[in-house]
Amino acid sequence: MDNNELSNELKRQNYYIELCSKWVKSKQERLGRPLTCTAKTFGCQMNSRDSEKLLGILLDIGYVETDSEEADFVLYNTCTVRENANLKVYGHLGYMQNLKKKNPDMMIALCGCMMQEADVVEKIKKSYKFVDIVFGTHNIFKLAELIYNRIESEKMVIDVWKDTDMIVEDLPVERKYSFKSGVNITFGCDNFCSYCIVPYVRGRERSRRPEDIIKEIENLVADGVVEVMLLGQNVNSYGKGLDEEITFAELLKRVEEVEGLKRIRFMTSHPKDLSDELIEVMKNSKKICRQLHLPVQSGSSRILKIMNRKYTKESYLELVDKIKKAIPDIAITTDIIVGFPGETEEDFLETMDVVKKVRYDSAFTFKYSKRTGTPASKMENQVPEDVVKDRFDRLLETVQKISSEETEKRVGMIMPVLAEEINSHDSTLITGRLSHNTIVHFKGTPDMIGKIVNVKLEEANGFYYFGKLWVTERA
Ligand code: SAH
Ligand code: SF4
Ligand code: F3S
Repeated sequence: MDNNELSNELKRQNYYIELCSKWVKSKQERLGRPLTCTAKTFGCQMNSRDSEKLLGILLDIGYVETDSEEADFVLYNTCTVRENANLKVYGHLGYMQNLKKKNPDMMIALCGCMMQEADVVEKIKKSYKFVDIVFGTHNIFKLAELIYNRIESEKMVIDVWKDTDMIVEDLPVERKYSFKSGVNITFGCDNFCSYCIVPYVRGRERSRRPEDIIKEIENLVADGVVEVMLLGQNVNSYGKGLDEEITFAELLKRVEEVEGLKRIRFMTSHPKDLSDELIEVMKNSKKICRQLHLPVQSGSSRILKIMNRKYTKESYLELVDKIKKAIPDIAITTDIIVGFPGETEEDFLETMDVVKKVRYDSAFTFKYSKRTGTPASKMENQVPEDVVKDRFDRLLETVQKISSEETEKRVGMIMPVLAEEINSHDSTLITGRLSHNTIVHFKGTPDMIGKIVNVKLEEANGFYYFGKLWVTERA
């Protein structure tokens, strides 16, 4: 699709936003109260960012945001990466059925990765007839049009696209945090790791144009943002398919130049594509955070091959060594799957060995979950549940022990912390993050939120710190 068509699409959607907002206004007058909306996100940062865009459209239409699921418009942005994520959504829908009986005017919309699966949509059509709108990951920019269709047709509206080459820019966004924001740099995934459903539900990999990314970041900074998280399933392959030749490392250099921006994060880095150029750029950067999320998935080269990860235990460890040599104070974090089909005790011990060698600052551990349609789901030697549980527990214990030892190492240091929010348990405390992404609680005041302050790390508590604000006296 060319630029002309894209700008027409934007105009079209703005037209639907206007039509819907007239409808909301007249309904509000009839009811004598504002219409409320809520967006619940399941899943990863990509989904959270999508929800901010969807919420942006809903607020433009005239809905008022609320936390409660008793809203007039309830949107569930779903995830399907593991079975658990799906079960949660069905749980919420069961509860919504009763709410909708009480408030028949309520609208329920389902979107996100789960909706890209045909059998899920069939199930919604058959067993959850009270749902109003179903759409997928490729057409979130159409929300206003879908709402308008629902109002006109008075039937369930379903619009799920198989894939797209479209990237619609400049739609409204409602950010969750005023001072930090996710920024998409790529959409989709072409890696097809054999256990993973993401390539099937997010489509082929597409990169946004660097000038669009920089423009968005400049606008965010002008609006008070100090930290951005560049988002993609594999940020290291950024640039594929663009007219301009550009690597992820080059993009980072351009982002670094945005004046007023203080911190840059990114995820996820696939180990197979992490370049020396990227390590060099990170090393020389003043803004890129001292943290790298580098999912290993398994420590067994045999399993990694069947997972289609395209690296070995040895090459992964070499890469980590190279990164640590270049940037000694870097925090490395990871994702690990236990119980992939055919995983033996020996394979699992290889994973434990990697954990002990790398000494991750933190690690997300997952039990393998069978996803229909992926190559791994057809593998015969699925690992029994009790074996998976046993390995999972052993892994978690090791991961937590190492992570708390690594956290302990920084006690006594004075470090810059981005103050993020008032602590939910104690309102005299502010919760913030180190460049390393570790959480720090310290006595502070709400006016600090969004600012970077120096904090002395006084006590480590597993995976977070208690600290004291450190104000240097000026002569
Ligand atoms: N693109 C990222 C991962 C996105 S999904 C990457 O390549 O690292 C986030 C994490 O979910 C993955 O890293 C993996 O550890 C986990 N995951 C994905 N599919 C899974 C499955 N079928 N079962 C269990 N965990 C899974
Ligand atoms: Fe899934 Fe692999 Fe793509 Fe990550 S890189 S989203 S794990 S297929
Ligand atoms: Fe889940 Fe989709 Fe993200 S499946 S992990 S929300 S890309």
